[in-house]
Amino acid sequence: MRQAGRYLPEYREVRADAGSFLDLCFNPELAARVTLQPIERFGFDAAILFSDILVVPHALGQKVDFIQNEGPVLEPVTDGDAIRALTRDRFLELLEPVFETVRQVRAGLGPEVALIGFCGAPWTVATYMVGGRGSPDQAAARALAYRDPGAFRILIDLLVGVSVEYLCAQVKAGAQVLQIFDSWAGTLPDGEFERWCVGPAREIVAGVRARGVEAPVIGFPRGSGPLYSHYARETGVNGVSCDTSLPLDYIARELQPSLAVQGNLDPLLLVNGGDALTRRVDEILAALGEGPFIFNLGHGIVPQTPPEHVARLVAQVRR
Ligand code: CP3
Repeated sequence: MRQAGRYLPEYREVRADAGSFLDLCFNPELAARVTLQPIERFGFDAAILFSDILVVPHALGQKVDFIQNEGPVLEPVTDGDAIRALTRDRFLELLEPVFETVRQVRAGLGPEVALIGFCGAPWTVATYMVGGRGSPDQAAARALAYRDPGAFRILIDLLVGVSVEYLCAQVKAGAQVLQIFDSWAGTLPDGEFERWCVGPAREIVAGVRARGVEAPVIGFPRGSGPLYSHYARETGVNGVSCDTSLPLDYIARELQPSLAVQGNLDPLLLVNGGDALTRRVDEILAALGEGPFIFNLGHGIVPQTPPEHVARLVAQVRR
């Protein structure tokens, strides 16, 4: 999950001088530097590109801001007219600084460290585009999908198309693994889950494969509980990132026999540290360590995480 970020003093230093969060995302030299920071400090096996899922709506012409202590704020796209006003005319051109970041990171990493590129899944990106900000229940997007499914379909199809282009361009620039973040998959009822989460993920995987991209794809349908195995089967992803609530025996029994799994330590346990952390890491390794497995958190690292806890965790996993 997220590696760079506010828990590292060296990140906060770069962030303070960079201007806005989007200025940092679009400054290849600085974005490459903060991508490499956690690798230099901890020696992880993979780096994740420093960027954000919301650079995509920005590149479609939507106004996107990140407000300190508040998170992302967008000019909401609330009906068919606003959706049809989005444009992909300059999409790849506006994202060129991201591809330059990928090139610089790849040049700065040793050959043994993989570089993960990513995009937000169409549903999760749409929740921010329609709601204009994060929300606990994604009500605005769910309501639009019920009220005007035709218009919502246009938005999702647009996001599928540009996500394929975006991911392929990241691979061309040097990304070797791709992750699709569907952080809000868990609020979709099952029929809607199929329509707005599974279908679009399947189309993105098929789309990048049709363009000759062979990089493994990791899906993250966060919060989808017993639908994880369905997602894993139906989308064609090569791995799934498991959220903190997914039971280890379910992961071992229903997912790991057919694809790689990643996860799923609770980020708050990493903040806590101590024996509880050590025990849980042992449990995760005992349950999943013999199969195809990427040790990771079950969601993003939080800013109050002590870097020493991360160092101790890495040492324990390495042992
Ligand atoms: O973390 C990393 O450095 C890797 C790059 C990365 C970021 N965002 C940087 C970021 C990745 C992979 C993301 C993904 C992302 N962004 C997701 C999907 C994964 C998840 O966490 O669920 C989502 C939903 C977003 C949207 C987003 N970006 C939100 C809701 C916020 C505010 C969150 C908060 O806690 O304030 C962001 C901002 C953001 N994206 C930060 C970082 C490092 C913090 C910005 C800062 O430095 O002020």
